[in-house]
Amino acid sequence: MTDRYALIGNPVGHSKSPLIHGEFAKQTRQDLTYETIEAPVDGFKANVDAFRAKGGRGINVTLPFKLEAVEYATELSERARFAGAVNCMRFEGGRGLAENYDGLGLVSDIQRNLGFQMRGRRVLLMGAGGAARGALPPFLEQEPALLFVANRTVSKAKALGERFPGRPNLVTGGYPDLGTQAFDIVVNATSASLRGELPAVPRTAFARGCLAYDLVYGKGLTPFLRLARDAGAARVADGIGMLVEQAAEAFVWWRGVRPETKAMIERLSVPLA
Ligand code: ATR
Repeated sequence: MTDRYALIGNPVGHSKSPLIHGEFAKQTRQDLTYETIEAPVDGFKANVDAFRAKGGRGINVTLPFKLEAVEYATELSERARFAGAVNCMRFEGGRGLAENYDGLGLVSDIQRNLGFQMRGRRVLLMGAGGAARGALPPFLEQEPALLFVANRTVSKAKALGERFPGRPNLVTGGYPDLGTQAFDIVVNATSASLRGELPAVPRTAFARGCLAYDLVYGKGLTPFLRLARDAGAARVADGIGMLVEQAAEAFVWWRGVRPETKAMIERLSVPLA
């Protein structure tokens, strides 16, 4: 019998997930379907319950339901718990297992696809919302020489730092606290680019030859990426690779087989100009 998966969110019309998972399934010869469910904002639980009743095996969760899925889950991974957000679930009878693969997908894209290693390097993570929280634990796991988490609202960055006591390589603060320090990898996990805004990161933060990574995609060269390029970054990247890599992690979790991601990333990439 064909296994059913779905993306639930509102809106879901422009999502690339059905294409990505459809291609992964073809490539790995998995017998599955992947549909989209546009649920009313108060209809997450009812729609997921209905999907499960029809034999749904797993879902991806997108806005505005990532927090509600935390409540809905019966088992929450450490990653999802720290991020305070769920982007992926697997159903086994009455169990609803929840995961968040965004941070892992981001690390894979930075290290494997873009070739910038974090170990021993200086990394700047901007933001302290759900996206930054998802990235923080997997970033720390790579053992950077320094991980600076900078946020406009300093207290939110500080609160994140307090979740990891005794880590001399983890520093938190506001943008002014960056001073003239330079970083090898600068990641914009704020939502500023969605509105064409630029966080108050100084140009000096971009070390010559650095990687600048914006988690948003489909926005072309955002003000952040433009600043990075002008400041001498060797590589600027948007979040399309992260999207494909988190999908690959979910696919492995659901199906036990790892799809190739390179061709899909190339297919979905748009020139950053
Ligand atoms: P997400 O789930 O995408 O992380 P969020 O939880 O609403 O969204 O968090 C948005 C993040 O982007 C926050 O870190 C926010 O900073 P504040 O905590 O100070 O609000 C950050 N952000 C949004 N717009 C920004 C801007 N123009 N400059 C700097 N940071 C910005």
